[in-house]
Amino acid sequence: MCGIVGYVGEKQAAPILLDGLSKLEYRGYDSAGIAVFDGEKINMTKAKGRLKVLEELTHNGATMPGALGIGHTRWATHGEPSDVNAHPHLNRAETIAVVHNGIIENYLKLKKKLTGKGYEFISDTDTEVIAHLLDYYYDGNPLRAITKVMHRMEGSYALGIIFRDHPDELYAVRKDSPLIVGSTDGGCIIASDVPAVLKYTRDVYFIENEEIVRMKSDSMEFFNVDEEPIEKEATHIEWDVDAAEKGGYEHFMLKEMYEQPKAIEDTFSPRIKGNDIVIEELGMSDEEIRAVRKIMIVACGSAYHAGVTGKYVLEGMARIPVEVDLASEFRYRDPILDEGTLVIVISQSGETADSLAALRESRARGAKVLGIVNVVGSSIAREADNVMYTWAGPEIAVATTKAYSCQLIALYLLALKFSKIRGKITETELERYIEDLKRIPDQVELLLNNKNKIQKFANRYVAAKDVFFIGRGIDYAISLEGSLKLKEISYIHSEAYAAGELKHGTISLIEEGTLVTAVLTQEELYKKMISNIVEVRTRGAFVLAVTNEGNDEINRAADYVVYIPETNRFFTNSLAIIPLQLFGYYIAVGRGCDVDKPRNLAKSVTVE
Ligand code: AGP
Repeated sequence: MCGIVGYVGEKQAAPILLDGLSKLEYRGYDSAGIAVFDGEKINMTKAKGRLKVLEELTHNGATMPGALGIGHTRWATHGEPSDVNAHPHLNRAETIAVVHNGIIENYLKLKKKLTGKGYEFISDTDTEVIAHLLDYYYDGNPLRAITKVMHRMEGSYALGIIFRDHPDELYAVRKDSPLIVGSTDGGCIIASDVPAVLKYTRDVYFIENEEIVRMKSDSMEFFNVDEEPIEKEATHIEWDVDAAEKGGYEHFMLKEMYEQPKAIEDTFSPRIKGNDIVIEELGMSDEEIRAVRKIMIVACGSAYHAGVTGKYVLEGMARIPVEVDLASEFRYRDPILDEGTLVIVISQSGETADSLAALRESRARGAKVLGIVNVVGSSIAREADNVMYTWAGPEIAVATTKAYSCQLIALYLLALKFSKIRGKITETELERYIEDLKRIPDQVELLLNNKNKIQKFANRYVAAKDVFFIGRGIDYAISLEGSLKLKEISYIHSEAYAAGELKHGTISLIEEGTLVTAVLTQEELYKKMISNIVEVRTRGAFVLAVTNEGNDEINRAADYVVYIPETNRFFTNSLAIIPLQLFGYYIAVGRGCDVDKPRNLAKSVTVE
């Protein structure tokens, strides 16, 4: 996600802004910029690339004198990474500058209205709309302009704003994106996160939704959206910088697991309009959707596992034949594709070499390619015919969690869209699916907050040598991901098997004390799964079962049971994965492994 900073005080702003941005680099970004008021005008420098580019362009801030400024590291959501799309953004008169972290969901509607009033846009971002909207409402009173803009925006935002004719004032406002403010010696500072301010102060104010701050070098005033003054208490931060970058979590992986509820909501909410699924970026007409004869999902690792879930959901709901293949296999097997095949390439990084090669191979054979990608402007995002972004935000830990969960959501949305248009589900059924979808963030949060049971269980298996994951149907898909999560961060050997496959060889490996994790969320397969559980237990296995609340008969079959809340049969993977992520995480922590950077692994495998 983006990072914002701001400063007003007696010192030069630019070096403080650059230093603050450097402390936010861990959040992931693709461009950066600062704007500083020099006593007469607002100067701005911004560029695609690392912060180093900005430091060189400004000679570490020396070319941008002034004691009032704002800065930004951009994680692209709307508009590719580029100089012009980088923040800050100015109004045309260059009297207002703004930096933004978040997503303005109704920016296209606001952009259209402003264009109709003669405003011209130079970037593809949602943030530029804010600069022009502030200009539109500004009549000399910054606070009034800000509150008017707040009433018009939908979505999430943390804003830093400066007004040329209020040269000693820095404004900040927040809704759903984090924002903190603090006072330093002879000034005030704002930032997206604690690491950026720790050098100056450990006493910070966490801004709540729809609160506005007006700062001067020696004062800080807080207002609500009705422009009424409010009182706030400062919080003393005990964290060190390293802990602060992880938001107080021990690892980025754990932090990102806890970001899943918001990431999931950010992925589906812009695409649910009333009782309809709207995926504008799909770039396919209803006729083209009806004309799809086959879907080919291609990916690697966890993205491939999401694709296996996608197969069960798309086939089960939309009744479209779906094939899923590992990109490294697909690219060399002379795949049979034609114009009736829709190829979906799933990739968090958008730079995985095998997945990119598979995309190129598909296009060369005349198939239409849809990317499901997390990194905006990445190679796969740019080369696919169309791209559906997962709004998970930057994922720092090598082991994916929130991006994987968002890939599942993207596949559910596609399945619902295709099912409705191809007449496979009714309006009422769609309404029910949408209700189930909207409940997932809270259900995920509930599972995350009930982590103690799985944490205790994991601590008993830190010395395990072999762990098996078994499931049938969609539960086989989640077993694949649960197994990868465990082995890639704990280095314990693990395998996932279609439970019906056990007797065809694998069961010979089961011996006294072998841990078998059985996932059974599909009611019509409970009985089959229970007999598989009995099979392995009679051979000495210890069985951890992950199943739906209410499935009490499992208590007699398994040794240890973790329940997931009720949802429809197609969405259970989004819930079952949470205890499996926690299981792998706590075993890896118990084994003292480098959870965020496991040995031999890279976050993005950009080579074959
Ligand atoms: C997942 O935890 C792994 N880090 C790995 O399997 C990953 O999913 C795979 O390399 C694909 O990466 P991508 O999604 O960026 O293409």
